[in-house]
Amino acid sequence: MHKIALNFEDGVTRFIDATADETVADAAYRQGINIPLDCRDGACGTCKCFAEAGRYDLGQEYIEDALSEEEAAQGYVLTCQMRAESDCVVRIPASSQVCKTEQSSYQASISAVRQLSDSTIALSIKGDALSRLAFLPGQYVNLGVPGSEQTRAYSFSSLQKDGEVSFLIRNVPGGLMSSFLTGLAKAGDSMTLAGPLGSFYLREIRRPLLLLAGGTGLAPFTAMLEKIAEEGSEHPLHLIYGVTNDFDLVELDRLQALAARIPNFSYSACVANPESQHPLKGYVTQHIEPRHLNDGDVDVYLCGPPPMVEAVSHYIREQGITPANFYYEKFAAAAA
Ligand SMILES: Cc1cc2nc3c(=O)[nH]c(=O)nc-3n(C[C@H](O)[C@H](O)[C@H](O)COP(=O)(O)OP(=O)(O)OC[C@H]3O[C@@H](n4cnc5c(N)ncnc54)[C@H](O)[C@@H]3O)c2cc1C
Ligand code: FES
Repeated sequence: MHKIALNFEDGVTRFIDATADETVADAAYRQGINIPLDCRDGACGTCKCFAEAGRYDLGQEYIEDALSEEEAAQGYVLTCQMRAESDCVVRIPASSQVCKTEQSSYQASISAVRQLSDSTIALSIKGDALSRLAFLPGQYVNLGVPGSEQTRAYSFSSLQKDGEVSFLIRNVPGGLMSSFLTGLAKAGDSMTLAGPLGSFYLREIRRPLLLLAGGTGLAPFTAMLEKIAEEGSEHPLHLIYGVTNDFDLVELDRLQALAARIPNFSYSACVANPESQHPLKGYVTQHIEPRHLNDGDVDVYLCGPPPMVEAVSHYIREQGITPANFYYEKFAAAAA
């Protein structure tokens, strides 16, 4: 049995199980998800999707009009023909609603809430329901703010282990979730999670990676690095983690532990405030070296507050280098 992540156009992800002898479209249908289909015979191309990761058999019966050789080489698949040979990630060019599914919702309780510094909170949530929660490292969920109707988006900062997941949250003074977490929240409080969501997730590692984090934008990377620590990587990975003030710099011991587990992973952390006591000062962009960009043969992942993401994207464009792949996530404020 293989796990298939179906990523819909609206950012919703659903995981299904697929056996080696059923097609991905049949497996999805069996689990209540209708991938758009027409002929089911490899002739019309209606079920064409993009396989982002995994090994699979394309099938023998389809015709060139439905899927050309070139498309197949790029990673396109006909889900009415495709059979998984490993866990896979498949991008569906339709919304979750069109496919008659929606994001899942989970109820769990706070297992730990800890202020790591004035600006940063670590939150862990645990519950039996969460042992069924699957997500791709880098994705996020919407967390309900207890005592209100509102939700806030947070990237998982860990993998799910024994029904527990963690988050790294910026303490925005006066913010709704921030005020709850720094004031009222305590272990045992109930919380609702809806997701997983988002297209910012770790793809198959085919070349060196450059990971760029701003503030709590570190969260998706610690989740990705946990996954890489489990599976290994033959390519070099470098993380540059930038913050504004010394007290924003958190989780350095965790990064060090991850570096000890991942042989070709290196990282540096820098602080923008010129008054900083930290040895490395300045912005993330000041610490990107030509070898990190590897003449464009690099996959760049970038995450942080919107102005940081824009500044770094602009900087990379200015270098005249187009990375093989460039993925980013902006931690936009819900209230903005
Ligand atoms: C896809 C996605 C993933 C996210 N993941 C994370 C994450 O892993 N960790 C994390 O810390 N945040 C993350 N965010 C941001 C998060 O969802 C909230 O916006 C943030 O935590 C503020 O929530 P709040 O309820 O405390 O403040 P709100 O009540 O939403 O805001 C209060 C006031 O502060 C302003 N404000 C909100 N955020 C900021 C900010 N960052 N800087 C300055 N002013 C701000 C608002 O405009 C508003 O005026 C993510 C956002 C998105 C869209
Ligand atoms: S549904 Fe027609 S090719 Fe798959």
